[in-house]
Amino acid sequence: MKGLQPEKIKIMLVAGARPNFMKIAPLIKAINSRNEQKNIRPRIKAILVHTGQHYDHNMSDIFFKELGIPEPDINLGVGSGSHAEQTARIMLAFEPVCLKEKPDWVVVVGDVNSTLACSVVASKLGIKVAHVEAGLRSHDRTMPEEINRLVTDSLADLLFTPSDDANINLKKEGIPATKRKLVGNIMIDALVSRLKQAEKSPLPHRLNIRPGQFIYVTLHRPSNVDRPEVLSAIMKKLGRISKKIPVVFPVHPRTRKMLKKISFRPEAYSQLILTEPVGYTDSLWLAKYARLVLTDSGGLQEETTYFKTPCLTLRPNTERPVTIKIGTNKLTNLKTMEADINDILDGKIKRGKIPRYWDGRTAERIIKYLVAG
Ligand code: UD1
Repeated sequence: MKGLQPEKIKIMLVAGARPNFMKIAPLIKAINSRNEQKNIRPRIKAILVHTGQHYDHNMSDIFFKELGIPEPDINLGVGSGSHAEQTARIMLAFEPVCLKEKPDWVVVVGDVNSTLACSVVASKLGIKVAHVEAGLRSHDRTMPEEINRLVTDSLADLLFTPSDDANINLKKEGIPATKRKLVGNIMIDALVSRLKQAEKSPLPHRLNIRPGQFIYVTLHRPSNVDRPEVLSAIMKKLGRISKKIPVVFPVHPRTRKMLKKISFRPEAYSQLILTEPVGYTDSLWLAKYARLVLTDSGGLQEETTYFKTPCLTLRPNTERPVTIKIGTNKLTNLKTMEADINDILDGKIKRGKIPRYWDGRTAERIIKYLVAG
């Protein structure tokens, strides 16, 4: 039987946008530690592809540096554009890479345009696709990410899910049990590995904030930031809240554009701290030590659940219901957000638990399945 095992398998890992990098880093680490084992077969050759969907230093490079991700082997450099433009550019650039490298697996993570584009290309070339963070559903097709999730999951050969609800969604969609693998949350692998460094973050000193005495805000979803009247209303509320407690709001480029358009003046509020996007380690510190987090990010809903920090998600739905059912998350909206924040400031806090397999060992499980499959 031994002779039938290949000497080496080639795994192509795709990352493109900010939330992808902390999902790729643990996979690279797990591959490297497997390869370090004496006489292990098959060995894994990893090829890292960066699509270039995100390209600013603090949206991309800083994550590579902090998470110890090696320089990408291939950078497609596609940049920004409309959904069709961006997706098409990634597909055009990724196809020749697949044809040249002929990987055994293409591994995509999350739900961004790079995830969808690369799954379609690989799958049409007959290359096996594995999707990490499969099965999440908001059931809201106005979210571009929901379309990306549906297409990617319908094409993938192996679907690695973070929680039981994701498995149930896939089962309902007819994905066979042999393809669905509950492996846990890969984001938590990255979190656990950076926690020590996060404790030493210089950010609190720089921003003059103290543990438990600030609110951490991140907002970048089109539904919250693309319409001037919606973003204006949110900023007004945040301004009012900042009179009670400092509000730290690192601003995503998409949000920054709109803040400029609406001529928002943060100077009017002395405790409303708007900053450039922060790196991963600083963000972990903020998520761990905030009195509460207000966000529309997927990752922060999970990180706050792990840290047991109260989280308000400014969205009508979430593809991560486990963070509500088991964790510290709660949905909010423009009408209720101020009252919801005040409730938490007044001590009405939801106590959460950490979901199954959110234990820092997800990448290890994934690599075992890829090698076997
Ligand atoms: C993308 C993902 C979203 C994820 C988010 C995290 C899709 C459909 N959306 O949204 O799921 O939560 O990343 O950030 O894939 N820009 C810069 N510098 C950059 C990147 C973007 O200035 O490095 C600006 C550009 O003007 C661009 C805009 O931000 O047009 C939006 O970027 P884009 O990649 O289209 O989507 P995100 O809103 O970042």
